[in-house]
Amino acid sequence: MKPEQVLLHMARRVPRVLAPSLAEDWPKLPVLKAEGVYLYAADGKRYLDFTSGIGVTNIGHCHPRVVAAATQQLQAMIHSAVGVTIHQSLLELCEALTEVLPPKMDMFFFGNSGAEAVEGAIKLARYVSRRPGIIAFEGGFHGRSYGAASVTSVKSKYRDHYEPFVPGVYFAPYPYTFRCPLGSTPEAALEWTLQGIQRIFQHQIPPSQVAAFLVEPIQGEGGYIVPPEDFLASLRSLCDEHGIYLIIDEVQSGFGRTGQMFASQLFGVQPDIMAIAKGIASGFPLGATVASRKLMSQWTAGAHGTTFGGNPVSCAAGVATLQVIRDEDLLSHCREMGARFMQGLRSLQSKYPLIGEVRGAGLMLAMEMVFPGEEKKPNPKAAMKLLEMSLERGLVAYMAGTYGQVVRFIPPLIVEAEHIDQALGILEEGLARLPAG
Ligand SMILES: Cc1ncc(COP(=O)(O)O)c(C=O)c1O
Repeated sequence: MKPEQVLLHMARRVPRVLAPSLAEDWPKLPVLKAEGVYLYAADGKRYLDFTSGIGVTNIGHCHPRVVAAATQQLQAMIHSAVGVTIHQSLLELCEALTEVLPPKMDMFFFGNSGAEAVEGAIKLARYVSRRPGIIAFEGGFHGRSYGAASVTSVKSKYRDHYEPFVPGVYFAPYPYTFRCPLGSTPEAALEWTLQGIQRIFQHQIPPSQVAAFLVEPIQGEGGYIVPPEDFLASLRSLCDEHGIYLIIDEVQSGFGRTGQMFASQLFGVQPDIMAIAKGIASGFPLGATVASRKLMSQWTAGAHGTTFGGNPVSCAAGVATLQVIRDEDLLSHCREMGARFMQGLRSLQSKYPLIGEVRGAGLMLAMEMVFPGEEKKPNPKAAMKLLEMSLERGLVAYMAGTYGQVVRFIPPLIVEAEHIDQALGILEEGLARLPAG
């Protein structure tokens, strides 16, 4: 088949065979091959991938060391149900992860996805604390399975028609400085959040019944919202005061995305439980619930389990991924490239009032689109139009935010200055063509 025919065939087949529940996702670019920072599409064009498969291929597509490690494991053994058998790459991954995770995060439950990692974290916190309450945050996203969807509130659309959810979940406001009703300062945003938590404690559930706070260190689907510096530390003190566990969901922010291995390290805060996935294995399905041995060893035999979790090929890819991040010094490269990209986005913001805010950390960056002069009214149309125009010019980026008003950039950590400059040029061409209001 010629490339144009492949394209047409793929485009026709998708709506016939894939659940329309996925339809909001964008752009469904028919792709034949991926390598490094590029996607090679069925239209014969090469695209800069500034999505990394939604924060997964952090070391670039098909890194040769990941391909080699996975191939070797494929030939030796594809599946091993942990519990029946045990395999080497799983243990190697545990050791490699312990080296890069925050201190004392040294025991693991492996699943296949971010949602499963969150499910495990919630179950562990309830099981060990013997308390029912989970306090999550407005605008948070933790996955689509029932437990994970129950603690997700980024869009009411994700919850519509699924009631009743898992009970015992309470939502506190996330400190979203740009849209804080008390004022757009980090201090006001933190105050707003802490007041919200106190109201939950006073009116809905006493802290003695709360098992855990569940929080994203930087909100991902919510719009790459970076909280005030002392937000996580404030949660940590509340947890210490009331014997509550702090679950940090690093599914999107982990594995070097922010220029630290994990975003919570930017804030110097120690979690009790972590959920990790996405970038862990460069595209092979894998996720993990992580805690200290002291905590996790209280999760007694049979209390939680899996068939596929900790798959040998995924684990081998995970070990190789961590080696690449270390050997190619990708954390400092991410900080350097992130600073360049951020500077470029800020300079676009100074020219185009459609951009209400530029924010993020490392290579987890975003622009929030607004209607200029209209009290920061969210502008999802501008975001979508800009994404479409960028795609036409060879740049794939992605949306985020409750209203779809945020354009987010998730380039691989191996991105170079020339790619960033090219992306900035494409964005500027699009912005210049967007109607100003
Ligand atoms: C912070 C966060 N947690 C959990 C998830 C769910 O991960 P998965 O889609 O692998 O289930 C996501 C996915 O985007 C996420 O961003």
